[in-house]
Amino acid sequence: MQIDVDLGTRGYPVVIDAGLLSRAAEWLKPLARGRSMAIVTDSNLSHHRQTLQTALAAADIATTVIELDPGEGSKSWATLESLTNQLLELGIERGDHVIALGGGVIGDLVGFACAILKRGCNFVQIPTTLLAQVDSSVGGKTAINTRAGKNLIGAFHQPSLVLIDPETLATLPLRELRAGYAEVVKYGLIDDANFFAWCETNGPALIAGDITLRTTAIAHSIAAKARIVAEDERETSGKRALLNLGHTFGHALEAETGFSAALLHGEAVAAGMALAYGYSADRGLCPADDAARIGKHLRGVGLPDGLAAAGIVASGTALVDHMRHDKKMAGGSLPFLLSRGIGETYLDSAVDLADVARYLDRQTR
Ligand code: GLY
Repeated sequence: MQIDVDLGTRGYPVVIDAGLLSRAAEWLKPLARGRSMAIVTDSNLSHHRQTLQTALAAADIATTVIELDPGEGSKSWATLESLTNQLLELGIERGDHVIALGGGVIGDLVGFACAILKRGCNFVQIPTTLLAQVDSSVGGKTAINTRAGKNLIGAFHQPSLVLIDPETLATLPLRELRAGYAEVVKYGLIDDANFFAWCETNGPALIAGDITLRTTAIAHSIAAKARIVAEDERETSGKRALLNLGHTFGHALEAETGFSAALLHGEAVAAGMALAYGYSADRGLCPADDAARIGKHLRGVGLPDGLAAAGIVASGTALVDHMRHDKKMAGGSLPFLLSRGIGETYLDSAVDLADVARYLDRQTR
């Protein structure tokens, strides 16, 4: 199945199909233009890399592999420097397409390297984690991390093509799969109550391994993301900001754990969405039953539904202090995504951080 991201000359197809990795040459051959292709991946993904290389070799497409260390540590100045030097040594031209094969770290780093290499060369995203398949591989956000925080140096640079093979999820650790599923649930909570109900019915079987349900969830998520990105590519109108539901609370939780493996990004987003709905209910903006329903679903699939479940014991003030470093701070205030009910998320730019701190303190008592 194909979903188009409608961005005019920067538009591109997202192709979703079980087993697609072995048939990738069909899509990549026209982009290779008879030249060798660079595949950037991480050392945990040799199985997927071999499948891709075999498929491309069968179509007479030569490949060179650049293998990076797995993990968030690779989204660094040092790895960016080394990667761009290696791509330059390979003689990558602006018209070439570099392949990013991996999760969000690989996609973000390779996308940023391609944004700056020779002032911009092409790239293709082949995401292999659920989180990258439903979120980060589409939309053109690319970045590295710095001392001052995550994703603070980057660029909007759209890929030319996204190839998603849901079968790559078969080898993904369960914890990472669940974390990616939080971003699936997010699309229901933003503006699609029917999809949240679909998640309630199908989430457990999806996580247990049902490939048809996984493919459906990916396609639904990408269609939703493609619509939002087409409307607000550079996050200027407030529409794309809706994709950050749960991320402001979540970012504070990640900061509290030092962005360590103690809390994966998707787990922080799950707890953050529960807190965003909990806070909305606390303020009487959203029915308490809706917030409870979300918590029940997240718990039911093994995701944290709040501070305690995320292992956070910090005070509300400490958590709000982390929020003050959020890159979305504007003019001294922080836009929050709140809700009027399931599927009714909206941006509120007048949230009092002291009130949020009091709410968070009540959660830890
Ligand atoms: N992950 C949020 C966005 O792409 O805007």
